[in-house]
This record gives sequence, structure tokens and C-alpha cells, in this order.
Amino acid sequence: MKILLLGKNGLLGNELNRAFSPDESIDLIALGHDGLDITDENAVYEFLKEEKPNLVINSAAFTYVDDCETKENFVMDVNGHANEHLAKICHKIDAKLMYFSTDYVFDGEKDDGYFENDKTGPINVYGKSKLLGETLIQENTDQFYIIRTSWLFGMQGKNFVKTMLELANAKKTISVVNDQIGKPTYSHDLAKNVFNFVKTGYDFGIYHMTNERVTSWYDFATNIFRIAKINVDLIPVTSKEFSRPAKRPRISTLINTKLPPMRDHLDALTSYLKELKII
Ligand SMILES: NC(=O)c1ccc[n+]([C@@H]2O[C@H](COP(=O)([O-])OP(=O)(O)OC[C@H]3O[C@@H](n4cnc5c(N)ncnc54)[C@H](OP(=O)(O)O)[C@@H]3O)[C@@H](O)[C@H]2O)c1
Repeated sequence: MKILLLGKNGLLGNELNRAFSPDESIDLIALGHDGLDITDENAVYEFLKEEKPNLVINSAAFTYVDDCETKENFVMDVNGHANEHLAKICHKIDAKLMYFSTDYVFDGEKDDGYFENDKTGPINVYGKSKLLGETLIQENTDQFYIIRTSWLFGMQGKNFVKTMLELANAKKTISVVNDQIGKPTYSHDLAKNVFNFVKTGYDFGIYHMTNERVTSWYDFATNIFRIAKINVDLIPVTSKEFSRPAKRPRISTLINTKLPPMRDHLDALTSYLKELKII
């Protein structure tokens, strides 16, 4: 099987590259932004026509949620419209297309969390752009996997866990929001799960893939410092008190009804803190 991985240098792309590379039955082509700009329709067409992958995994995106608010056209292109030509070209060359989406396609007002086929309703530009990507893919190819995930942490780049650890070095007291809840997910676990998903072969459609156990950012921070054995004063605050440019959904819980569950995020967090050599 020939697989083209796009966005290989990102938080998730880096782990996907690590998960797929060792398998000798897979002919993997992994490209970063400098290798192929997904918004360049001609370049994407020429590359795919030449290489004819069986599966394209698009892990490339613009993911700075607050910055998206002032870059709407740009973000809609990268996260949304680029997936229209990707899907059309994949359809033409008979390749499957995998796209990663987010809990932020939902409005966060459903107390029990969201099933795969629940009504979407993003409340920020990032969420709107990711939903546009989902929609354009479904309109232009039948052979798609849309994988929604949430609250990623991992070795590559910045994330909430690293931010908490850095803040604990600089400050005695840290304020963390306690009125947004969701499922933190270790990019290493997600990439391994995606690898197993591809090897197993599932039906086309929308999937939710996260580590298990619902938490708030405040409770997640409490667990980071408990497991890392770091003493710090954590102050729970509301989203209103901790104002940011982009609104966040209150409930970000993705419910998985189609796949074997991934492990508890606290186990995953422990593995991550070990990989960071914090414990
Ligand atoms: N991080 C999360 O918490 C989270 C949660 C839910 C869903 N997701 C989704 O998961 C996927 C992976 O996210 P991530 O956290 O790994 O993102 P990331 O770390 O920001 O990586 C995204 C990668 O995409 C590349 N990229 C940006 N624009 C591109 C373009 N026009 N052409 C080609 N490459 C481009 C970036 O390269 P440059 O930096 O060089 O531009 C970067 O290496 C995304 O679809 C995201 O929406 C992420």
C-alpha cells in the first residue's frame, strides 16, 4: 500500500510518520509544508497524479485557534478549501482520503457530549474552517475517513502539558479554566490507533478518536502536577475570567461508538511525562 502523509512535521504528523515508517509493507511518502503546500491545487494535482497513492493522510492544518479569528480567509483556505481539491484529485485517482478534524466543530452546549453523527455548530473560526474541510470532503469523494480528535499533547511543538510545566517553573500560582471539559489525547497513542485503523480497514465515514476519561483543563492540570510531583498553587477560573480571542465550546466531549476505545488519558499522560523525562 502506498500512503502519502501530509503535514509530517506537525504535532500529530510527526507521530504518524513514526507509527507508519517501520512497516515495510507500506510505501510511505511523508511531506512537510516545504514539500507540498496543500493550498497549491496544481502542485497537489501534479504530485498525486505522478505518485498515485492508495491513501492520502492529511495532517496539515493551521491550528492556532486564537490566531484564526483574525485570519479567516487564510484559515478557510488551508483547513477548508484545500480539502476540496484534495478530495477531487483523490476521487480522480481512486485514492482514499483521511482528514483530521476537531471537537471544535460542535457548539459545546450538549451536556452529555457528542456522537459521530450529531449536529455540528462551530462557535469560532477554527471550528468553522475544520467543518468546511469535513463538508467539502464529503461532497467530493465517497472514499473518506474523517477522524475527529481533541486536546492533543505530544513531543512535537507546544501543548497544554508543556505550557503548564513551563509556567510552574516561572510562577507559584497558575490560573486554569475549569468550565471547559473534554478528552485530552496523546498524539503518540492517536498515531498508533490510526495505524491500526488503516491496517484493519474500516468503513468510510466519521470517527471519534481520543484517549478516554472526561476532564476539565483545571482537573487535567491538577493531574499533570500530581503525577509530575510538582507543587504549585492552581486557581480554578471561568472562561469569562480567562478571556481569549476565540470562544471555546463548553463541552468538547467526543463520544466514540464505532471503534475499540483508546486508553485512559491519565495512563497516556504518565507515559508522556516519562517520555519528557519529567518522571
Ligand atoms: N492540536 C490539537 O489539539 C488538535 C485537536 C483536534 C484536532 N486537531 C487536528 O489534527 C490535525 C493535526 O494537528 P496538529 O496539532 O498536528 O497541528 P500542527 O502541529 O499545527 O501541525 C500542522 C502542520 O501542518 C503544516 N501546514 C500548515 N499549512 C500547510 C499548508 N498550506 N500546506 C502543507 N502543510 C501545512 C504545518 O507546517 P508549518 O508549521 O510549516 O506551516 C504543520 O507542520 C489538524 O487537522 C488539526 O486540525 C488537532
